[in-house]
Amino acid sequence: MQPPDPAYHLPALGPEAVARWFSAPDGVYVDGTLGGCGHARALLARLGPGSRLVGLDRDPDALAANRDLARDPRVRLVQGDFGDLPAVLARCGLGPVDGVLLDLGVSSHQLDEGARGFSFLRDGPLDMRMDPGAGPPASALVNRAPVAELARVIRAYGEEPRAGRVARAIDRARRRKPLETTGELARVVEEALGRRGAKHPATRTFQALRIAVNRELDALERFLGALDRVLAPGGRVVVISYHSLEDRLVKRALREAQPRCRCPARAPRCTCGTPGWLRPLERRVVRPGPDEIERNPRARSARLRAAERLPDPPPDGEPHGGTP
Ligand SMILES: C[S@@+](CC[C@H](N)C(=O)[O-])C[C@H]1O[C@@H](n2cnc3c(N)ncnc32)[C@H](O)[C@@H]1O
Repeated sequence: MQPPDPAYHLPALGPEAVARWFSAPDGVYVDGTLGGCGHARALLARLGPGSRLVGLDRDPDALAANRDLARDPRVRLVQGDFGDLPAVLARCGLGPVDGVLLDLGVSSHQLDEGARGFSFLRDGPLDMRMDPGAGPPASALVNRAPVAELARVIRAYGEEPRAGRVARAIDRARRRKPLETTGELARVVEEALGRRGAKHPATRTFQALRIAVNRELDALERFLGALDRVLAPGGRVVVISYHSLEDRLVKRALREAQPRCRCPARAPRCTCGTPGWLRPLERRVVRPGPDEIERNPRARSARLRAAERLPDPPPDGEPHGGTP
C-alpha cells in the first residue's frame, strides 16, 4: 500500500480519528469522505484480511488519486454522496457497519486546484462543485439568484454579518457583466467589505457558496438521519467538522440518540420511551493541539465527535439496564 500524498491532503486529527473509528480488526468500515485517503490508509494498516472498507467521495479526483487502493481486496472505492449511505451500502451488498468516518469540508487538493473554483486565492472558473458532474456551478447561483436569496445564503452558510451588503455588491457587478471567475468575485466582495485584519474578506462568502452549491448540510442531515440504519451494535461514528453549522448538527444528532432512560434497572423493558441507542465516546469535543496546528494550519478549526452504538435492547422479559 502506498503512503498518502501530503500534497493532496494532510489529514486532520489522524491518530485521534483512527483510534475512535477502529473497533474490530475484521470489521466493515466506511470512509464517507475519502479525500487524500490519509485516514483510510491509517485505518487499513490496523485492519486484518477479513475486513472491508468502503471508500466514498463525491469527487472523482479523490478516487483517481487513490486508485492503487482498488487493488486491495479489502477495499471498494465508490463515487457517491455520504447522504445516500444506506443505498451505497446496499449496492455494495453490505449491511450495518462497524465504523463510519466523515471528515467534512473540502480537501487541500480541491482548494489548491484553481480550476475547481473553490478558492479566492487561486483564480479559476466560479465552479465549486465537489462532483463536477452534479448540479449547477457556483456561477449559476452568483449570477442568477435573487439578491434576497443570495443574502440569505451568505448569511446562513457563511455567518457573514454584512451579507446584505455583499449580495447588493454582487448584484451591481453582475448587471454590468456576469461574474465568471473566483478572482472577479473575490474582488467584488473585497471592495464591498474592505480589508480588516488578516482574514480575507471573501472567506465567509466563499464558504457559504460552497456549502450551498454542494448542499453540504443537507447531505450531513441525511447521513445523521440514517445512522441508526447504518451502524451495527458496537459500531462507531466519527465526524470531524470545520465550522459551527456542521458541528451543531452533529452535536444535536448525537445528543438526541443518547439514552435518557429513567426506568428502574430491573424493569423488564423500557417504558419511559427514551432508551437511546448511541453513547458518546467522550463528553468533550476533540480539537487539534498546537503542534498539529503548526504542522497543518488547515486543521486549526477541526472538531471531532465520536459515538458508539449500544447493543440492541434485550428481548422482552430480560432486564434492560436502565438507571437503578
Ligand atoms: C477534508 S477532505 C477528506 C480528507 C481525508 N479524510 C484524508 O485523509 O485525506 C473532504 C472530502 O470529502 C468529500 N466530500 C464532501 N462532502 C461529501 C459528500 N456529501 N459525500 C461524499 N464525499 C464528500 C470532498 O470531496 C473531499 O474530498
